[in-house]
Amino acid sequence: MMKLFAANWKMHKTQAEARQTAEELVRLVGSGLAADREVLLTAPFTALAATAQGLAGAARFSVGAQNFYPETHGAFTGEISPAMLQDAGASWALTGHSERRHVLGESDGFVGRKTAFGLAAGLNVIFCVGEKIEERKANQLAEVLTRQISLGLADVPRDVSPQRLCVAYEPVWAIGTGLVAGPAEILEAHALVRSQLAAIFGSAGREVRILYGGSVKPDNAAEIIALDNVDGVLVGGASLKADDFSRIVLA
Ligand code: PGA
Repeated sequence: MMKLFAANWKMHKTQAEARQTAEELVRLVGSGLAADREVLLTAPFTALAATAQGLAGAARFSVGAQNFYPETHGAFTGEISPAMLQDAGASWALTGHSERRHVLGESDGFVGRKTAFGLAAGLNVIFCVGEKIEERKANQLAEVLTRQISLGLADVPRDVSPQRLCVAYEPVWAIGTGLVAGPAEILEAHALVRSQLAAIFGSAGREVRILYGGSVKPDNAAEIIALDNVDGVLVGGASLKADDFSRIVLA
């Protein structure tokens, strides 16, 4: 299975900055990208085309968006469709990121609608899940992941190509905090996600990549990526500088 190293630039970078970071990343990674690895940069809408220009078609590097609206077109002021993202160079998009859930108020149902719609529209999707600290303390990890995954994937066709869907486990308490989940916590959560994917998709559920996200840095990436059921990482803060992110990609 190809491991996916995904950057989430969030609300950072102008067009010029995005182009420069993408160019620098390709230069730093050079010919060192392992044969079983691919890289994705999820950029702000305004910087998608510039990010694609910066990558200049480098093999196994692609561009993604961080959000979209689940309609093809229409009276949805301020929103953007999957086709518009593809037109700007994106082949992937995130759904269910904790900042969309907890800052922007997206429900499990809306996240599910977006996930199914994005896949049907031809985007590859990284669907994100994860528990809040109070849910972890109340021993609700399994309950939260089961709810988020069953509602989030409810309308995804059972025969979806497993390469087009990833699930990112991102404990909310580890995002942007410097508090990385420990190996035992990652193993437990990823095993729960894997068993639910198998229950939903059967044997194809073993081919859906499960990414870890939450304070991944150059010095912890190698240990995390080597864990069972960790098929990639989703990186926020440490993806903003090409130097840091290249060290994660090459870890
Ligand atoms: P972080 O963010 O790497 O800055 O913790 C991860 C994410 O939000 O996807």
